[in-house]
Amino acid sequence: MNKRVGLPVELRTEAELTQEIARLRAELARREREAADKELQLERYAADLRETFKEERTLTLQLTRSYRATVRALSNAVEARDAYTGKHAERVAAYGIEIARALGLPRPDSPELEFGFLLHDIGKVAVPDSILYKPGSLTVEERALMARHPAVGAEIVGGIEFLAEAAEVVRSHHERWDGMGYPDGLCGEEIPVAARVFAVADVFDALTTDRPYRTAFPLREARAMIIEEAGTHFDPDVIDAFRNIDDRTFAQIGRDA
Ligand SMILES: [Fe+2]
Repeated sequence: MNKRVGLPVELRTEAELTQEIARLRAELARREREAADKELQLERYAADLRETFKEERTLTLQLTRSYRATVRALSNAVEARDAYTGKHAERVAAYGIEIARALGLPRPDSPELEFGFLLHDIGKVAVPDSILYKPGSLTVEERALMARHPAVGAEIVGGIEFLAEAAEVVRSHHERWDGMGYPDGLCGEEIPVAARVFAVADVFDALTTDRPYRTAFPLREARAMIIEEAGTHFDPDVIDAFRNIDDRTFAQIGRDA
């Protein structure tokens, strides 16, 4: 190594300085090449990441679509047995999503929430036809059997990972704010919020559709009956959100479904 390189600049010869400048230039060029290579590598890496992200998103969308189709098929299978409800699950899911949105729940359109709404009565597959189709009122034993459907339903969907959140609605959709519901007698905020939202949508749909024993209540009357139950059957906050949805929105959902 040239020992004079370490000397102060004024003590070096011109040739030495020229040599030093050349060396520094070469070093600079080498570092610039390295930096350009790294930048290129980073760009390739970012492009790979973008591509992977796009593929992942496409796969997630396909998966969600398949899940939705499966859940709808299951829900239709349950409804096909229950002659009088028509498109109850679809309507009630749409009402529920609307109320969840009005309440300000995060991700009111999430598939998990919709799946719970659509499958709420899946446990009815375990209820015998003689009870499900009985025209008159049920005996105490028959009512007890019928009341098992939320727990049975939660067991059916509970073992399926993508339905884990839905299981909460399935199990708790007949709980009441005042603790008088079933199957667990939960009260107030012990009841999962999605189930509290769903309970309102479920009763609203039941009131506004024809049943073998009565015709549908007009929308305004059904609304008033539900509002009356704030703090007893229903969560008062959910009822506030429900009140903020206009009649036209509900009527439109009823027509679409
Ligand atoms: Fe139910």
